[in-house]
Amino acid sequence: MKKTTGFSRLTRDEKINFIAHQHFSQPEEARRLLQSYQHTDPEVQRRHDEFIENSLTNFFMPYGVAPNFLINGTNYTVPMVIEESSVVAAAAKSASFWFDRGGFQAQVLSTRKLGHVHFLWNGNEADLRARMPDIDLRLRVASESLGAQMRSRGGGITQLELVAKPEIERGYYQLKATFETCDAMGANFINSHLECFARELRGFIESDHTLPDAHRSLTVVMSILSNYTPECLVRAEVACPIDALADGDDYTNEQFVEKFLQALHIAREEPYRAVTHNKGIMNGIDAVVLATGNDFRAVEACAHAYAARDGQYRSLTQAEAVDGQFRFWLDIPLALGTVGGLTSLHPLVRASLDMLNNPNAGRLMEIVACVGLAQNFSAVKSLVTTGIQKGHMKMHLLNILNQLGATEMEKERTKTYFSDKAISFQAVGEYLKKLRGQTAVQVLHHIHAN
Ligand code: MEV
Repeated sequence: MKKTTGFSRLTRDEKINFIAHQHFSQPEEARRLLQSYQHTDPEVQRRHDEFIENSLTNFFMPYGVAPNFLINGTNYTVPMVIEESSVVAAAAKSASFWFDRGGFQAQVLSTRKLGHVHFLWNGNEADLRARMPDIDLRLRVASESLGAQMRSRGGGITQLELVAKPEIERGYYQLKATFETCDAMGANFINSHLECFARELRGFIESDHTLPDAHRSLTVVMSILSNYTPECLVRAEVACPIDALADGDDYTNEQFVEKFLQALHIAREEPYRAVTHNKGIMNGIDAVVLATGNDFRAVEACAHAYAARDGQYRSLTQAEAVDGQFRFWLDIPLALGTVGGLTSLHPLVRASLDMLNNPNAGRLMEIVACVGLAQNFSAVKSLVTTGIQKGHMKMHLLNILNQLGATEMEKERTKTYFSDKAISFQAVGEYLKKLRGQTAVQVLHHIHAN
């Protein structure tokens, strides 16, 4: 097998040609397809290409909006980037439902982020602890130039702690550093600090002649932020009288609340259900996180770790019905930024932030959490009443019709036909075949009649 070398040094067109000829059965067709997804403005395309290495083209995802998100008294139209057909519809439906019941309340509970220098040292823990005030000072002074801008915005290092974990590895310690990163997600800021801390910590130990010779060396294993940010936490909630809850004819308010609470209880106690329940929350969260240029992998990893914080994976949302009042809320760690990263580079990310009135990071955390809560409300509401397939398949019908190459007229007639019938790929295919046969016969009749 021949290894590909020098690929990254090719121009984009050369890369496309190379890939098309190496990996496609129809190279010319593949080349045309890849070229066709490029932006018409070469400047915009160049900027996108520069986000990553070996960029060939762009991968489209739908960019939609969910209007009527009334959050802390402000009405937002929320941008969402997602391919799953029913997600935006469900968010919008839920937003509209809660708009009429006072909207969402959201509150940032804390905004601290953290990282660690992971190191090995064979000295006594007590010796290291005794030196922590000096180490703390040295690290803060050494990293001063890295944090000037952040400090001027009210951020910076909030705490440096020594953590000993000999049970994991002999002589294993962490320098745990906590940061306030204001409106930035802060990954580069944190990692630059940690690498500086690691150098200084090693320098400190190596030059401390009050320590025995054998203890004057320290091995830095790695220095990296943690994407687990349980102290960068936001709460979103909705509440209304139980009497105002049900909007269907098939169940009473009390029946609805009872089943809703049962569903929440199951999701709290049963991990198989909790994962799907939380996946539904992340449908909304990820879509806004993507639209606003934030790191959805970090958000996902953190959310699920948080869901398992007491040792069992549980639902992220909770609900209660007390004194005739229904309350439903979501606590979720969200490390988001509204400056830096993609926020100033991607035109659609800038547009998303603009659409949201250019929020600071805290406000964005609140908006994103509310969309997650709304998404979960819609999903659980459907699950305990009509079932999700009704809404889901309605949206899916369009995908099936597109796959089958249906015309606009065929789409309309098929949608009407299936409005009260079960949708499946096969059923739609058969109906379309019949419809096309009928249409062909009608055309023939028309020709003969004239
Ligand atoms: C589908 O993407 C999400 C749901 O399965 C979430 C849930 O079950 O709560 C509908």
